[in-house]
Formats: sequence, structure tokens, C-alpha cells
Amino acid sequence: MPSITFAPDAPITSTSDAIAQEARAGLNATPKTLSPWLFYDEAGSHLFEQITELPEYYLTRTERGIFAANAEGILREAALGQGPSGKLTLIELGAGTATKTGILLTEAVRQQGSVVYQPVDVSETALDEATENILANIPGVTVRSQVADYTREALPLNRLVETRTLALYIGSSIGNFTPEDARDVLRNLRAQLLPGDALLLGTDLAPGNGSSKTIAALLAAYDDAAGVTAAFNLNVLTRLNRDLGADFSPANFRHRACWNPTQSRIEMHLESLLAQRVHIPANASGGALTIHFEAGESIHTENSYKFTSTAVEALLASAGFKKTRSWQDSQHLFAVTLATAV
Ligand code: AVI
Repeated sequence: MPSITFAPDAPITSTSDAIAQEARAGLNATPKTLSPWLFYDEAGSHLFEQITELPEYYLTRTERGIFAANAEGILREAALGQGPSGKLTLIELGAGTATKTGILLTEAVRQQGSVVYQPVDVSETALDEATENILANIPGVTVRSQVADYTREALPLNRLVETRTLALYIGSSIGNFTPEDARDVLRNLRAQLLPGDALLLGTDLAPGNGSSKTIAALLAAYDDAAGVTAAFNLNVLTRLNRDLGADFSPANFRHRACWNPTQSRIEMHLESLLAQRVHIPANASGGALTIHFEAGESIHTENSYKFTSTAVEALLASAGFKKTRSWQDSQHLFAVTLATAV
């Protein structure tokens, strides 16, 4: 599961209340929306894992390649300026199962002898899986996992004396927030770091500006030939049927991905194939709801922002970080940027 969690200001008492509130507010709005965190039920998390291995979805393997080629430099650069006997402690926002992090942890152990790693995620199951994998495969790592929603809560950092924190926010997860929410998420993180601590941010790069990425390749990454992304998008309707008793017919909707050049983002939509009505029964969050769709009307389910290097630097600066260095793959598809808390 990636690191999309709740909107920073949503008042939430439990997950089922949150789903009901999100669905009611989003499906009553014009245009209709659903928040991307709704994707990640068990089936959706599994589909997302499949997406990360698709030939068209270059993001995961490209970021992993950047880590594999540059882990030594990334860790050395992040450690610059720490105290004489100090070590880096790594925390990871929305760690999920932490599959890519192993490369950085292995290098941290090589450089420091040992490392404390604090993965933070809303999913306890994902954290258990991450802990088990890391402990089995990378000796020298002490895992202190924390179940928390990093977009809304103070991070439960276990700051160790004479260590410097390196926060990892990778996987292009920041790209699923609007620019304002992205800044707020990073500000929330910054508020819990000390000056001199570091952030490693993974961002997908926009086409043009020296990137060899074409818009066609970008669109294929979000509308793959095997239909896995379509199934991932449509699964949200199945989830609303199961969790809220709604009566969506997923076959009456189609997955659509488009590039919005003005906003520099891929948008995912679920487009209604016909004029139809869908019902959500009354529950604790409100009375019964009938939602009317015109043929061709869509529900906007996700934004995935693509950045220029300048935009990454500006976002970091707006949240109290100064870029120190960045690494890209040879085709300039993806960037991993190291920044210092100022
Ligand atoms: C989790 N996140 C970074 C993915 C992305 O690329 O924006 C979610 C995703 N949506 C469709 N494919 C993958």
C-alpha cells in the first residue's frame, strides 16, 4: 500500500465514517470526486502492487534504479554535518511494505554499522510485513514501526541522542496531493524535525524540460494494456458497494486517464457510460442518497502531479526545506531530491 491517507483536515472518527463522509461529500459535489485513499482496501492494495510491476508503470523501477545506483552518495550526503559520534536514523512516511527502502537501509548499515528505522503508516498489516522482511533480510536494522496518519498527526519520532533524522518520502506519493496539501504535509513533517535533519523526496518528472518522457508514455503508465489500472480505479465502486451498501454497477463505468498540462498532472476518472441513478442507503453519516449521472459524466478519482526540478525545489522551500542535491535516472523520468530542514 502506498502512502495516500486522509485529507489533512477531514474530521474522522472511524474508517467507515470516513468512507461515508467522503462518498457523500464527493458524489454530491460538482464535478463529482472521490479521494484516492479510497483505492486502498485489500483488493486495491493488491492491484496497486501489481501496477508497480507493469511494464508501462516506469515509476517504481526507475526510483529503485536511482537508489541502487546512488545509495552510497545519498546516505553520505544526508549524513554530512551530523555530530562526531552521530548516526542517521531513518524514518519513512507512508512506508507500506517498504520494499524499495531495503536498498537504503542496507547502505546505512554498511556505512554506520547499524541503523534505527521508523516506518510510519496507517496500515498495521503493511508495517508488520515490512518489519518481518527487513528483520529477516538486513541484519543491523532496528525497526520501530508506528501506526499513524502522517498527513494529520504529529509524527511519533523516537529521536535518539546524537542522531540526525533522515525522513524518506518516496514513491511519488507527494504527487497525489494538491499543491496546497502537499505543502501542508511537508510542513507537518518539517515541524517535527530539527534544523539540519534531512528529507529524501521521490517525485515523478513532467514531460519536457529535458525529460525524455512522452505524454503517450505517461498516459500508458496510467492506462495499461492489461487493464490493471482500470481495475484499480473501478475497484473503488466495488468498495462503496461493500462498505456503504451502494448499488454501483462497475460495468456501467469506464476508466479514463488524461494529461492536464495546465496543472501538470495525470487525472484518473470513472466515466459513466449511460445516464443512470445510483443509491447509497441511509447510515450514521446521513440519509439515503440518490446520485444522478449523465452519460459521459465522470467521477474524478485521482491526481498524480508531475514536477519540474524547479517545482520540487519551490515546494520544498515552501515547507521549510532547502534542496541539497538531486539524483535522476539517465532518461530524466524520475527525481530523488535530498533537502535539509532549515
Ligand atoms: C501511489 N501513487 C504514487 C500512484 C501514482 O502513480 O500516482 C498511484 C497510482 N494511480 C494509478 N496508478 C498508480
